Amino acid sequence: MKSRQLSLTILLIAFVTLFSALNSCNNNDGGGTDIAAANADSIKKVVERGKYLAHHVSMCMDCHSHRDFNQFSGPPIEGTEGMGGEIFGEKLGVPGTIFSRNITPDTVNGIGNWSDEEIVRAVTRGISRNGDTLFPLMPYPHYNGMSKDDIYSIVAYIRTLKPNNNKVPVRKLFIPMSMAYPPLQSLSPDDNIKPDVSDMVKYGAYVMNSAGCMDCHTPMDKGQFVMSKYMAGGRVFDMETFKVTTANITPDSATGIGSWTEAMFLDKFKNYRDAAAYKTNPGKLNSMMPWVMYAGMDDFDIKSIYRYLRTLPAINNKIEKYPQQN
Ligand code: HEC
Ligand code: HEC
Repeated sequence: MKSRQLSLTILLIAFVTLFSALNSCNNNDGGGTDIAAANADSIKKVVERGKYLAHHVSMCMDCHSHRDFNQFSGPPIEGTEGMGGEIFGEKLGVPGTIFSRNITPDTVNGIGNWSDEEIVRAVTRGISRNGDTLFPLMPYPHYNGMSKDDIYSIVAYIRTLKPNNNKVPVRKLFIPMSMAYPPLQSLSPDDNIKPDVSDMVKYGAYVMNSAGCMDCHTPMDKGQFVMSKYMAGGRVFDMETFKVTTANITPDSATGIGSWTEAMFLDKFKNYRDAAAYKTNPGKLNSMMPWVMYAGMDDFDIKSIYRYLRTLPAINNKIEKYPQQN
């Protein structure tokens, strides 16, 4: 019965597609224009969803643009979106030096000539167009857990970026990547991996995974995450102008965010929607956490992350965010 329903659905979709294709050929027909407009509208929605994810959840535009650390949390510099070239070296646990790549549609130095499938393979499985395994600081292990719709909407959006001909240097790694990090499986053909919003905890886990919070908030030892300290903070970012340790965001009330209400958590993010909160040079009290970009996340998505964080084991792990100040 189920498979019959499915084939009926497919038939229906095929019919609707054919109908709209036929109609859009005939522009004199009022109905056709409606359908063409509806199609344009749905493409616009897909691109908007991709933009939302790339700028405010999955942070593509954080690492693949240049950040201005003369402002709090280093918001991306306008005009650099997607051009790549940010350096990630040994201080961040990279065995060598890697650079975020140019992901604008430039056909020479960007990904203008890549097919959608090639981009999706790089973003979700860490395999570049030439077959190289990407270093997992590019958070493809997380993006592998995103729904197809979300991933393709990001691809649709990055195709609309202004082409930038920035040539990114070649990475230098001391270990062969394909041996250290076996590539991941293709995206699940089941597109329903995105939980329904009615289950805020599950949906929050999905959003948090898409947002890569774990990579900064879980400490690492010899290139591996210490899962017994999941979300308990303690990674140190030693930047040129400041040094900051990631916070404990488990529900521990003494050393984590156990005493924070949902409203406090939401307000902490919403605070950075106001330019006054970040457009001053914070000097040594800066943060690696891209607060200004995350501030653009929907209230609902932020609250869902909070609900999910509440379900984690409380871990006692005292953090000094700025030890050199005390
Ligand atoms: C934490 C930083 C970071 C984030 C966030 C990030 N990337 Fe990357 N990305 C990198 C780095 C670094 C590389 C290069 C890795 C290497 O050379 O091994 C890379 C490589 C890539 C590549 C391969 C390009 C090539 O020439 O091989 C693509 C495509 C890409 N990223 C797209 C994205 C998209 C889309 C997103 C958001 C969904 C994203 N990245 C988020 C850091 C990041
Ligand atoms: C690039 C690294 C990075 C990423 C990604 C990141 N954080 Fe952070 N986060 C930090 C650092 C560093 C601090 C400590 C300095 C500060 O308060 O900004 C911090 C602080 C926080 C705090 C404040 C806790 C306190 O005690 O004041 C919260 C809440 C938080 N992060 C939640 C999140 C969530 C949720 C995500 C994912 C949506 C996330 N972070 C992603 C680096 C990161």
